[in-house]
Amino acid sequence: MSKLKVMTIFGTRPEAIKMAPLVQELEHRSEFESYCCVTAQHRQMLDSVLDIFRLTPQFDLDIMERSQSLSSITSKCLLGLEKVFQAVCPDLVLVHGDTSTTFAGALAAFYQQIAVGHVEAGLRTGDKYSPFPEEMNRSMVGRLADLHFCPTENNRKNLEAEGIVNGVFVTGNTVIDALHTTVCKDYHFTTESLNHLDYQGKKIIVVTCHRRENYGEPMEQIMSALKELAIMYKKEVELVYPVHLSPVVQEAAHRYLDGQDNIHLIPPLTADEMHNLMARSYMVLTDSGGLQEEAPALSKPVLVLRRETERPEAVKAGTVRVAGTSREDILRLASGLIQSPEAYTAMAQAANPYGDGQACRRIADGILYHFGKRDCPPEVFQGH
Ligand code: UD1
Ligand code: UDP
Repeated sequence: MSKLKVMTIFGTRPEAIKMAPLVQELEHRSEFESYCCVTAQHRQMLDSVLDIFRLTPQFDLDIMERSQSLSSITSKCLLGLEKVFQAVCPDLVLVHGDTSTTFAGALAAFYQQIAVGHVEAGLRTGDKYSPFPEEMNRSMVGRLADLHFCPTENNRKNLEAEGIVNGVFVTGNTVIDALHTTVCKDYHFTTESLNHLDYQGKKIIVVTCHRRENYGEPMEQIMSALKELAIMYKKEVELVYPVHLSPVVQEAAHRYLDGQDNIHLIPPLTADEMHNLMARSYMVLTDSGGLQEEAPALSKPVLVLRRETERPEAVKAGTVRVAGTSREDILRLASGLIQSPEAYTAMAQAANPYGDGQACRRIADGILYHFGKRDCPPEVFQGH
């Protein structure tokens, strides 16, 4: 039987973490001839993931620029991918999620009339500008894609509401497959300071913040709330904040938070460090998408530093709350979780609506089924 040529495209840290186990799955299965192309929309933060998962892409477009614009990312990806697709002629291109790389990857494949598979399909807020530009990126990829791998049933319903019903599979999120390989009990951090935090005696709060729609006033409010939180709970709380390399984020974080003893501003962590830090933490404050999926699986409460979320499953399960971006709201909700054992326990429950570690297998099986190389579709992932 001839092999299916599948090319995986990604460019940023979260796409890489969530695509890495899928690339490994495709490489290990005899039915596929697997190719991997990175756009390097992120450079250092991407390379760190490639190292941890021991991936060596065959193609690297190396597009990143300091303070890059959306147009620059998209146009560089389009031009670079055209050449790669013409050289390899894949049967299927796989893109992930909702970044500019994702959208450009799907569009470039469409221009070559190559089938597109969308991993992490069907997430929606319904607000064109929030998250920006991700909501439109994923909606447009939904129109371009032939195969849609939805993490949850809720995501499938979102696609159905847009009339997308063919080639749709509910697989679970591949981030849980990744998490299964990174978290371990006796983990030793390469970032030495993390080995010396008082995980038993203090409440360790993991923080991240980077979204474009939070640039400006929302980010000022968030940073101000973090500083105040550290001052209010000086004795009992340590904030650990691996700061995204975006110059906008670096500037805001250091301007507000430098010099506060119980705030640790550190460089981005490797994925395994980040996952193990979360596993030992008290709770998570974040505007990240990936952290909203990982923390519930580790029984850690999450306050989302955004006005909405496209991940309502964990909100429904009770482990995630949308805190918004106002200083007062963030302080009130975070204080509640620090002061009230009842409020904390109610949220710190193991809820994992996002996956069971089998998403990559289901995606590979879904691809084979679509191309007529397997008789039955993969079983549907049943979230809790
Ligand atoms: C991008 C995605 C966002 C995703 C996020 C994950 C888009 C439009 N945005 O946003 O959906 O949530 O990645 O982190 O696709 N930089 C470095 N080194 C790196 C990475 C970034 O120096 O390894 C700096 C560069 O100056 C770069 C800037 O960060 O220009 C912003 O990177 P960019 O990919 O444009 O935006 P993100 O905010 O990272
Ligand atoms: N992450 C990481 N190191 C860090 C911060 C985050 O490896 O210092 C991981 C995190 O565990 C998750 C992913 O990066 O798997 C989320 O990426 P990010 O927050 O950049 O993007 P988003 O998920 O919001 O698109």
